[in-house]
Amino acid sequence: MATAKLLVSKLRKPCLRAGFFRSFSVAASYATPSPTPPPPFSPEVNTLPPDDGTPIFVKGVQISARPIYLDMQATTPVDPRVLDAMLPYFCYRYGNPHSRNHLFGWESDHAVDEARSHVASLIKASPKEIIFTSGATESNNISVKGAMHFYKDKKRHVITSQTEHNLMSLSGHKIYGPKGIGALYIRRRPRVRVEPQMNGGGQERGLRSGTVPTPLVVGMGAACELAMKEMEYDTRRISKLQERLLNGICSKLDGVVVNGSMEHRYPGNLNLSFAYVEGESLLMGLKEVAVSSGSACTSASLEPSYVLRALGVEEDMAHTSIRYGMGRFTTEREVDLAVGLTVKNVERLREMSPLYELVKEGIDPKTIEWAQH
Ligand SMILES: Cc1ncc(COP(=O)(O)O)c(C=O)c1O
Repeated sequence: MATAKLLVSKLRKPCLRAGFFRSFSVAASYATPSPTPPPPFSPEVNTLPPDDGTPIFVKGVQISARPIYLDMQATTPVDPRVLDAMLPYFCYRYGNPHSRNHLFGWESDHAVDEARSHVASLIKASPKEIIFTSGATESNNISVKGAMHFYKDKKRHVITSQTEHNLMSLSGHKIYGPKGIGALYIRRRPRVRVEPQMNGGGQERGLRSGTVPTPLVVGMGAACELAMKEMEYDTRRISKLQERLLNGICSKLDGVVVNGSMEHRYPGNLNLSFAYVEGESLLMGLKEVAVSSGSACTSASLEPSYVLRALGVEEDMAHTSIRYGMGRFTTEREVDLAVGLTVKNVERLREMSPLYELVKEGIDPKTIEWAQH
């Protein structure tokens, strides 16, 4: 087996560090030829308004242009270098990583091992502590229900909070990897035990049965490897974008409150409340900017973010909050456009607000007695 693994590693071409544009051409060569090929990958080409003014209809809503994407906490684009690493495992190295008797299986198994090491290195864990799952949702389920079921005879209470979760769940699509893949870190010393939530072939140390999806796992591994190499650079660049966004908005608007700590926060996130403006109306007005009022997991509800409420944000301010999420591919120009559109829409909504008018006249809104009709 050792010889076989060595052979396999020699066969594997190092394609992870391939450049941005080369990556796209690899992807394109796999696709069916189309009469109008898509533009080459570039963050701005893919997010900024087209010049011809053609309106776009999506789900019955008309928008004048493709919005600027500032919702990186909902999901991130796949980094082209990640896609490049994944592609060979769809059509060429397609072996089942659990096939023990031939090279196709061995090379996939080797790729899964490598990916597991990248995930483990990122969080300074041992590869033996990493279980691949379909995403953070499944990891959370294995953690909470799995631990609860395993210890059900000895322990009878689950203590959790709305802002922190138990073991550690990782999601590929939040770190420029593909959707449909995630990982669960399960500590070995002192050992945490969980009961599997699915029965089957006993893959992933018996904790997550099902064929491990090699291309997705390779993508998750490549995303973690890139995160480790580029985290410092990304953090510096994204921090400047955050500052630009906050200064841009606060220099033109009053009554803007940052939710959460500025010191202890991920710089790619800026959650702002705009006093005297209803959050949903602001979101409706901001069609050219893809932002969110909270987590995509709970977006079906009009309730304000439960995380903001748990952080102590008052209900009325939580109702006026907007979450801006910037990332590796966000540009200064996109931030500037988002600032301009936010300011324009907040000013428009405040002009229509009788409450804001009273505040401008110097009346404290807390002293107003509202009559019911
Ligand atoms: C806190 C949190 N948990 C879980 C999820 C779901 O992750 P996944 O899509 O990987 O299942 C999300 C995604 O939005 C999230 O923000």
